[in-house]
Amino acid sequence: MIIAVDGPTASGKGTIARALAAHYRLPHLDTGLLYRAVGRQVFLDGGNPDDPVDALAATSFPEALLADPHLRSEETGGLASRVSIHPTVRQALFERQRTFATQPGGAVLDGRDIGTVIAPEAQVKLFVTASVEARAERRWREMHERGITASLEAIAEDLRRRDARDTERKDAPLRAAPDAWVLDTSTLSRDQAVAAAIGAVEEALGRR
Ligand code: DC
Repeated sequence: MIIAVDGPTASGKGTIARALAAHYRLPHLDTGLLYRAVGRQVFLDGGNPDDPVDALAATSFPEALLADPHLRSEETGGLASRVSIHPTVRQALFERQRTFATQPGGAVLDGRDIGTVIAPEAQVKLFVTASVEARAERRWREMHERGITASLEAIAEDLRRRDARDTERKDAPLRAAPDAWVLDTSTLSRDQAVAAAIGAVEEALGRR
């Protein structure tokens, strides 16, 4: 069974994907991390994330980079969004995601294009979304807990910019697959969102 979880930044898709993986005992891949590693590698190389040649070269990042705490930062998220525009970068990361998705026994993958490009045959597709305001507030809280101060408006502005770039790019833009279950988490707590996601999976599998 393949479960595809797509959606914008800070929608709760990562939390939901991890919870589904634990619930159904499936391996999980956060595909955003791969793009983040490419973004981080371009930075370490002193390259330009908007240059397709520099970005493609960074796709051969060392495995150890995936454990780098810098990958979680807002800066790296922005770089990831920029390198992810290049079709050659997406192609270079395709096989790795495809192999993970099609492993025997199934898998959960979260990202932007899992249900549309990486695993269009997925039995279950969730499109997790939330209002910019709700997402900005969550981001603010997360950052606050880590001792980082930022204005809510600046975070919202950054989210809008990332959404626009991810949605408007030509190659594999962020959009819900026609057969995806749309889950808006704006007014849901973490537990409510996870329960709703499990409910959607059960329904998609015809179990209720
Ligand atoms: O989910 P995230 O914030 O870690 O993703 C960072 C960026 O990576 C996102 O802005 C766009 C890109 N991305 C992508 O293009 N396709 C994916 N499947 C996952 C992420």
